[in-house]
Amino acid sequence: MIKKSFLSLILVMFMGVTLMSGCGNTENSSATEEKEESKTEVQTDENANIEDKEEYPGFEKDSIIGVSLPWLGTQNWTEAQTMFTDELTAAGYTPIIKQADQKVETQQEQIQSMIDEGAKVIVVGPVDSTRLSEVLEKAKSQGIYIIGYDRILEETTGVDGVVQYSSLKTGEIQAKALLEGLEKLKGEGPYNIELFGGSPTDPNAPNFFKGAMAILQPMIDDGTIVVVSGETDFETCATEGWNNEKARERIDKLLKDHYSDKDIAGVLCPNDGIARTVVIECENAGQQVPVVSGLDAEDESVKWVWQGRQYSTVAKPTSGLVKKTMEIINSLQAGKGMPGTSASAGNGRIVVPIYELPPVLVTKENAQEVFEDDPARLQLLN
Ligand code: BGC
Repeated sequence: MIKKSFLSLILVMFMGVTLMSGCGNTENSSATEEKEESKTEVQTDENANIEDKEEYPGFEKDSIIGVSLPWLGTQNWTEAQTMFTDELTAAGYTPIIKQADQKVETQQEQIQSMIDEGAKVIVVGPVDSTRLSEVLEKAKSQGIYIIGYDRILEETTGVDGVVQYSSLKTGEIQAKALLEGLEKLKGEGPYNIELFGGSPTDPNAPNFFKGAMAILQPMIDDGTIVVVSGETDFETCATEGWNNEKARERIDKLLKDHYSDKDIAGVLCPNDGIARTVVIECENAGQQVPVVSGLDAEDESVKWVWQGRQYSTVAKPTSGLVKKTMEIINSLQAGKGMPGTSASAGNGRIVVPIYELPPVLVTKENAQEVFEDDPARLQLLN
């Protein structure tokens, strides 16, 4: 107990430091805005090792481990479902793996039933990161460990750590690739482009967009790129539920309203499903294929990148996330607590240790190299 409060104290102190130091770029914003801004932004301090000092009892090797996924609508989540089933089973655990079909209530119920079944750890990729607070805190109060998977868990004390690829970095990579593609394939600027964001309930989505805008905004300001619709804020550009149909409706409207007499040179797309939807709709509207970014290195998009139909994607291999999560579960099982890490993020309630992995750009030029250890994707390059 004493050790637990010691850890909480360290986390609170760390939060104070990160809130004070992390927002130097928002000189004019009020304290509340600063807190808001830094909420889910990951801070890395190589000198800080957020280590769990409490002594844990561990648990039986065949214990139930719950994995609660938001949906299976993109390849990364179906991969997670398969890999967690295989790896947890191979390690001797008893997995319960559920997907919530983008429904918050379903996810709350699924987590509740994992608690009732006696899970020792619950791994959660939230549908809506702010709406699991109650059930997660209930789990925590019963001594269950909660690991956020791919997405941070916000507005809750019911989280022990989060495994994810850097979202800001992902957005930066997407924007840089878009600019590189425009220069390579679309001649001299200025370039007409449009911007898409992901789901507003997914904490990654605003950070992808923010990372991208850090690169694009100066180019918009100096006129190198022109967002013809003028739609540049995340809320307007977001795609509810990461639903490709919603993206289809929006790109169709943008093309109709703004591009009947103009070429669209590029589109910032937050993931591969949206990228492919946008390319298809632009082709259907009689446009040349625009330069698009993407995310997830989905099989279909890896083929499109190779064919030159999708300019880029970003690989954030599911195998890396699952491997890291398994390391944490094994550490908890052995009674060693959460492993140390040097990154953290405020989630609106507490500072959460983050186990962060680096996303990697994929274009036709480097695809063979990126996938050299991924035979399934490698064989799509032909
Ligand atoms: C994940 C992406 C995925 C998206 C939609 C995000 O949270 O990071 O990999 O494409 O959700 O499922």
